Amino acid sequence: MTHVLVTGGAGFIGTHVTAALLASGHQVSILDSGHPAAHSAPVPGDVHGVPVIHADLRDREAVTDVLRGVDAVVHQAAMVGMGVDLDDLPEYVGCNDLGTAVLLAGMARAGVRRLVLASSMVVYGEGAYACPGHGAVRPPARDIADLAAGRFEPRCPVCGDEVLSTEVGEDALLDPRSVYAVTKVAQEQLCSVWARQTGASVAALRYHNVYGPGMPKDTPYSGVAAIFRSALEGGRAPRVFEDGGQRRDFVHVSDVARANVAALEAEVGGLRAYNIASGRPATVGELATELASVSGGPEPVVTGEFRLGDVRHVVASPARATAELGFTAAIDLTSGVTEFASATLRG
Ligand code: UD1
Repeated sequence: MTHVLVTGGAGFIGTHVTAALLASGHQVSILDSGHPAAHSAPVPGDVHGVPVIHADLRDREAVTDVLRGVDAVVHQAAMVGMGVDLDDLPEYVGCNDLGTAVLLAGMARAGVRRLVLASSMVVYGEGAYACPGHGAVRPPARDIADLAAGRFEPRCPVCGDEVLSTEVGEDALLDPRSVYAVTKVAQEQLCSVWARQTGASVAALRYHNVYGPGMPKDTPYSGVAAIFRSALEGGRAPRVFEDGGQRRDFVHVSDVARANVAALEAEVGGLRAYNIASGRPATVGELATELASVSGGPEPVVTGEFRLGDVRHVVASPARATAELGFTAAIDLTSGVTEFASATLRG
């Protein structure tokens, strides 16, 4: 039995991770700030019977206290999503990077040498692409004029032709395109330096698009699955941006929770990154159509709108997590979405 601190343990993914750790026989402590970007209601007093220590990671004393007797940390606490505007910038950096720095310093003092970090596929920026004429290429950020004209596919940096999306592996260059993505890259890099200096082991789990019960409802910080679900619940059509052809890998939160347990139990040595994905990507349009049809709600509307921080396709290879952690996602999109259509969301 390992005594594990779950940061953000009262949040969407943290709640499921806590349940999975308990089910695997681990002892769990939870620290959660109840940040308003993730919680519209006060955090509960306990999660699955584990008392929630209500504190911010930037609070050095609270972090020191909660690390007493802990063997490993599963670090889920973060501000996620696109945010409202650039006024959010200091809070993203404060929560995600300063918070992680305080945690790592506390772990170094306490001699805690095992960490599972909730990272994200957003560290890749655009996924991997191949140009028919130039092979593997890294397209630059999409041109605003192209987006406005409804040309959504990224282009080859050499010839300007549209490129084809391919599976992105963990060794791809990191190329963050949003404030949140920058903070996730910084988290990984801080953890990597910390691991080298302390001899610790960090599994950085690059989650793809996580969905499932307990997902926060429609807010500027919510993922697209919750936004579509909230629209359908209100009798409104899901609004699909761009042309709906953008591809993602939607992975169920219970699979993500299992991946955390597997990563905790593996000794990776230094920092090692893993795509946590289903391996069966879908378009955002397909997600909307499937969810609308299961819910019996209005058909999705494809709006052509675009967000500058969005990337076009991120399609992952989860092969490394399978080979090294023994993790394979169990829930496919059809069964996951069927359950999600009537699941309880976070208020
Ligand atoms: C999402 C998460 C990010 C997480 C990452 C990997 C959010 C907001 N983003 O990134 O935190 O790290 O997965 O787990 O939680 N879209 C629509 N209609 C809408 C809203 C969005 O069509 O109403 C489209 C977007 O244009 C985009 C796609 O859906 O093409 C996915 O958007 P979103 O879920 O916001 O974020 P990701 O960038 O995929």
